[in-house]
Amino acid sequence: MAEMKKVGFDTLCIRGGHATESNRAHLTPVYASSTYTFDTAEQSIAVFKGDEPGYIYGRWGNPTITEAEEKISLLEAYNLTNSNGTPLQLKSLLHASGMAACSTMLLSNLRAGQKIITHFSLYGGTHELIEKILPGLGIEAVIVDFHDVNKVEDAIKADSNIALMYLETPANPTLQCIDLEALSSLGKSYGLTVCADNTFATPYLQQPFKYDVDFVMHSTTKFLNGHGTAIGGVLTGKDIDKMNGPVTKTHRLLGGNSNAFDAFLLTNGLRTLGIRMDRHCSNAAAVAGFLASNGDVSVVNYVGLPGHPDHTLAMRQMKNGGALLSFELKGGFDAGVRFINKMKLCTNAVSLGTCDTLISHPASTTHMGVVREKRLAFGITDGLMRVSVGMECIDDILSDIEQAIAD
Ligand SMILES: Cc1ncc(COP(=O)(O)O)c(C=O)c1O
Repeated sequence: MAEMKKVGFDTLCIRGGHATESNRAHLTPVYASSTYTFDTAEQSIAVFKGDEPGYIYGRWGNPTITEAEEKISLLEAYNLTNSNGTPLQLKSLLHASGMAACSTMLLSNLRAGQKIITHFSLYGGTHELIEKILPGLGIEAVIVDFHDVNKVEDAIKADSNIALMYLETPANPTLQCIDLEALSSLGKSYGLTVCADNTFATPYLQQPFKYDVDFVMHSTTKFLNGHGTAIGGVLTGKDIDKMNGPVTKTHRLLGGNSNAFDAFLLTNGLRTLGIRMDRHCSNAAAVAGFLASNGDVSVVNYVGLPGHPDHTLAMRQMKNGGALLSFELKGGFDAGVRFINKMKLCTNAVSLGTCDTLISHPASTTHMGVVREKRLAFGITDGLMRVSVGMECIDDILSDIEQAIAD
């Protein structure tokens, strides 16, 4: 790999980040060891000082984790360059979950008195973290409609304490997209740190670093792992000194580290990311087209459909319409419950990004406890179904959805 100048995305998925292992195992093994040893005091001093490479303690990383981190850095930086034309270098830190990655990013970049500016359609856990945990630490949120860049600028101008902009696109449940280029350049022009959650798109479909963001985070639980075998998260940054300094310090001290087995599963999943995404996305486009012409469906939210409000924007910043969609059953809540009970192939589960098609009915599950008016304001109608389109044979997915919709 090292001597190959430029390779394609799928080659990077398979080979990127792999270092020849000391016992010449073909794949990097699961380093199930909590600590690492030294031959001499001098060697331990050199490793502790950073003068010599080496592992010290499992919470600070291990070779299985390093491979996943380096692979993700290469994929997020794929074909991107710095302003001077040199290849973009990134540094990633693997975490126990997407929420842990998000916590490290927020707590290493913000201090009491500073504010975060963000939008309404964030993943629920991120929204709660910002609304319920950060204020206790003296960090408040300013929440604005990020579809209106002028309004975002007004809000930034009005409050000099805003220090960080947090973006997520596309986002649940209606697959709203926001303009990465316009928002990131606005944030940077006011000196803000900019972070994007790229979980739904993956680096195969969208590369936020192209728009000069400072950080990208993922719930690797989803498409990056791709098989639903481990919860995980990653934080990737382009300021290598900052990543190696305060961000690594926060990561290590908060203790939201990943582990060797989950990292091994993640690396295994990453090898097929591009190939999987092609199949996920072509299946999703077919499901969206099918639903759009079904008489029992009132709305299909899929950014690949020209009728989606953010279609043009999505097609500009994403490779295609992605693998997620939602749709509304005309029959409302009861039709949603009936649909779930009639499914024979698709899986009734939350989460997303697994090989199998996952369908959930938010009104009767994740959002059951949310006041109806509030839920409706977020676009979660009674008959809304959320679909993470899998890689099964498309005819099988379509015939299951068709029979589940039919009375
Ligand atoms: C877009 C997005 N970001 C972050 C998270 C949090 O990730 P995790 O569940 O791995 O902590 C999720 C989880 O569903 C998500 O969908």
